[in-house]
Amino acid sequence: MTTRIVDINTKGLSKSFGSIVALKDLNLEVNKGSIFGYLGPNGAGKTTTVRILSGLLKASSGNATVCGFNVNSQRDEIKAVTGLLPEAPGLYSKLSAVEFLEFIGALNDLSGSTLKNRIDRLMGILGLEGRQDDLLESYSSGMKQKVLVASTILHEPRLVFLDEPTSRLDPAASALVKELILAMAKETETTFFICTHMTDFAEDVCEIIGILNEGILTALGAPQGIIDDAQAKDLEEAYLKIVGGEVDRESLLSWRK
Ligand SMILES: Nc1ncnc2c1ncn2[C@@H]1O[C@H](COP(=O)(O)OP(=O)(O)O)[C@@H](O)[C@H]1O
Ligand SMILES: [Mg+2]
Repeated sequence: MTTRIVDINTKGLSKSFGSIVALKDLNLEVNKGSIFGYLGPNGAGKTTTVRILSGLLKASSGNATVCGFNVNSQRDEIKAVTGLLPEAPGLYSKLSAVEFLEFIGALNDLSGSTLKNRIDRLMGILGLEGRQDDLLESYSSGMKQKVLVASTILHEPRLVFLDEPTSRLDPAASALVKELILAMAKETETTFFICTHMTDFAEDVCEIIGILNEGILTALGAPQGIIDDAQAKDLEEAYLKIVGGEVDRESLLSWRK
């Protein structure tokens, strides 16, 4: 029997901004090497959670460990072993993909043949070999996002936070990013924590899903379990039942009356 290793463990984790309770009493375990999907509508508290767990923001109360390090007292250690793709990342458009990744590698103390080999390997996984020396400004949004995901995993973090990795992408570009995540999950032992409000993405990619609504974790489990519990036909219907966002077609069309 293999021992289960927990990469994220939170106990009563909470965060308030003044009178706004962004995250309330989060208790969550994410296993090492798994793909966890954090679903919820805008303003649910997903980004707040990621910012606390990646060492960028202090919790108001509660505690958590990430890769064995304490989020309240070991934030530098957490930053060293994790990667973060923020919601609205920046990218240097006057660099080529290789130059950009060399720059990010240097920031993470990578150099020489180690860095070159990793970049070559990522370019292969990304399917960007032929375009790697073109300026990023000539890339499509899906290709840019793949380069950003690559820059997040370049230092081979044990755990990667991806905050809405496909929200600004068209379906074809989303599919590329999805392929990349699945390829990486297969080839490495990386743990993924992915925020999304896209149920189809979560259903395709994530082994365990947590649904956050108004700062409260309201469902947790494998996609099929959540679907069964909600007596829904798919994850989208389950999600809408859980977050109470069922589209009221009558009221949508009421302007016609
Ligand atoms: N720095 C901040 N100051 C004040 N309120 C914030 C701040 N960051 C987030 N919030 C509020 O906390 C809630 C959760 O936001 P967020 O974590 O960004 O949600 P999500 O990522 O799920 O869309 C929202 O009501 C948001 O307005
Ligand atoms: Mg967010």
